[in-house]
Amino acid sequence: MKRSVPLIIGNWKLNPITLSDAAYLASAVARKHKTTPEPYVAIAPPFPYLAEVGKKIAKSAVALAAQDVHYEPIGPFTGEVSAAQLKDLGATFVIIGHSERRAMGESDAVVRKKVQAVLKHRLTPIVCVGERERDEQGNFFGFVEAQLRSLAEVLPAAVMKKVVIAYEPIWAIGTGNTATVDDVKEMQLFIETVLTKLYDRPTAKAVRLLYGGSVKPGNAAALHAEGDMNGFLVGGASLKADDFAAIINAVS
Ligand code: PGA
Repeated sequence: MKRSVPLIIGNWKLNPITLSDAAYLASAVARKHKTTPEPYVAIAPPFPYLAEVGKKIAKSAVALAAQDVHYEPIGPFTGEVSAAQLKDLGATFVIIGHSERRAMGESDAVVRKKVQAVLKHRLTPIVCVGERERDEQGNFFGFVEAQLRSLAEVLPAAVMKKVVIAYEPIWAIGTGNTATVDDVKEMQLFIETVLTKLYDRPTAKAVRLLYGGSVKPGNAAALHAEGDMNGFLVGGASLKADDFAAIINAVS
C-alpha cells in the first residue's frame, strides 16, 4: 500500500439494521468505486455482514475491513472473533481501539495485543488514538503521546511501519464538530514528532496517518489538502453511498 495514495475507510459501526440494507449499501459503494486504484477505499460493516458485504464488493476496488478483533486465535472466548476468521472472510483491514470500544473498557494493553494478533495474520491494523477533550494547557497532546508510546513498547520499527494510525478526537466523533484544518495539521506534525522520538524519522514518515471525526463531503477536500493526513476514517457519512463517494472524490 503506497503511503502517497490516500486511504478512506468507512466505519459503519452498528449499522444498518438488516442484512439486505447492508448488501444494498455495499453494492452502491462498489458501483461507485469499481476499478479506480486511487484512493484506496475500504468499508467496515458489523461482523454478521462481513461475508455478504465481501461478496458485494468482490469485483470492485473496495476492500473489506472489520471494526474489531479478539487477540486470541481460538478457544473459550464467547462472542469474540479472531484475526484468522476475519482474514478467512476476506478482510484486509481491522479497526482497533476505536474510542467507542475504549469507552467500554478496552485498555492500551488490550489494543496492543490486538494489533499484534492482526499483524501476525498479515492484516493491516488501523489503530485509533485521540483525546476526549481539549484543554488550553495542551495536556491532550500528552494523552495521544501515551497511546502511541504504548504501541511502541511492543512494536519494532519494521512492524510499526505497517500500522495505520487514525487520529480521532473523541469530541469530533459523530458530533458535527470537525477538528479544524489547523488542529489536524498540528496533530499530524505532533504524531510524526512523537514517532520520530520513539523510533526514527524514516519510520515516522512511513506510518500512515488518517483523520476521523465528522468528515463530510463539505469538509473533506480542505481537511485532506491542508490537514496533511493520508486519508480518513469516516463514520456517519459512510452510510450514504453518495456522501461516501463525494468524500472519495474530494481526495482523488
Ligand atoms: P463520524 O465517526 O464520522 O460519524 O464522526 C468517525 C468514527 O467514529 O470513526
